[in-house]
Amino acid sequence: IKTQVGIVGGGPAGLMLSHMLAKSGIENIVVEKRDHETIRTTHRAGILEHGSVRMLTEGGVSDRVLTEGYKHDGIDLRFGGVSHRIDFEELVGESVWLYPQNEVFVDLAAARERDNGDVRYAVTDTEVLDQTTSVPKIRFTDAEGTGFEIHCDILVGADGSQGICKRSIPKELRTDNFIEYPFAWFGILTEAPPSAPELIYANSDYGFALISQRNDNVQRMYFQCDPNEDAGAWSDEQIWAELQRRVDGPDGFQLKRGPIFEKTVLKFRSYVCEPMRYGNMFLAGDAGHTVPPTGAKGLNLALADVKVLFEAIDSFYATKSAELLDGYSDKALQRVWRAQNFSYWMTSMLHTRTDATPFERKRALGELNGVVSSRHGQAYLAEAYTGWPEK
Ligand code: DHB
Repeated sequence: IKTQVGIVGGGPAGLMLSHMLAKSGIENIVVEKRDHETIRTTHRAGILEHGSVRMLTEGGVSDRVLTEGYKHDGIDLRFGGVSHRIDFEELVGESVWLYPQNEVFVDLAAARERDNGDVRYAVTDTEVLDQTTSVPKIRFTDAEGTGFEIHCDILVGADGSQGICKRSIPKELRTDNFIEYPFAWFGILTEAPPSAPELIYANSDYGFALISQRNDNVQRMYFQCDPNEDAGAWSDEQIWAELQRRVDGPDGFQLKRGPIFEKTVLKFRSYVCEPMRYGNMFLAGDAGHTVPPTGAKGLNLALADVKVLFEAIDSFYATKSAELLDGYSDKALQRVWRAQNFSYWMTSMLHTRTDATPFERKRALGELNGVVSSRHGQAYLAEAYTGWPEK
């Protein structure tokens, strides 16, 4: 099959790029190894920067984020049992939207279907080849068992952190930057009303907890745990006690409890592949980098990559000049490293190492106090959290 852009990966990054290219009259095909249902039911983060919301709404994907999502004008940083509100709206004039990544996928998949996009789910044996030639190729077997080869001008690897595209770059031509953290998150979904109007990022002697939300009836919460924790070994009662003690304080704040219907342990690390390009193959989203979840940058960073890559591909077809494509990796990496730092900072500031010395504990509280008692500190957090303006 011949097309202009071949995209490996039909998550939010691959589908958003496919949507934007199609709107600009650029032919493309997406291949995705998972089936639609598996992606739709995989729980990921839930916070969209204002720029991500604009890509969905002004980009003609869907307005559902505005009708089904929730606008949040701030968050609470809670430590020493006391909450400190960071007022995004007042500090930087921006907000974020609580709208789960599954819904972003649902909207994008529906938009591709509505616009007759070519998206092949549940493919197997995917391979990428000839990346350094003018005709890179994607080989795959479709869900019916038929083998295909896509010939394209530009190949995009949007196939996530475990994808094949990044690994197809010869080791001597890429730098794998990564660090691991001695923490993981125990994540739950519970059928309960929200415990607070906004998200609470809590630091405590027992470790970090995040009180997030999904909608009026379902809440998402996480607590820092050992990376080898067995989620199945915890009873609901134990989970509620652990979460509650991490948010306890003199204000008597109590979590609203309900039945817990999902329990998972999420391991995390920071990773950046440099450059995010190999010949005529370009990486976007988790395929090129992963961030720890604190601060919810993953999906937003993927969409930011897609915006830069779309403009580069669009300009390549409009002007026949590869200038923007040649600048893609450097431009995307600027934002990636800023987000890596923000995610690393939020993670290290809010989590508590199990072997922390009293000095380290008090230093961390000093850092949190420094942020909340400085308008500039708060504003840095607000600007990073709601999403840096594009440059
Ligand atoms: C969620 C996840 C995050 O990592 C975060 O910083 C905020 C919210 C969530 O899943 O709701």
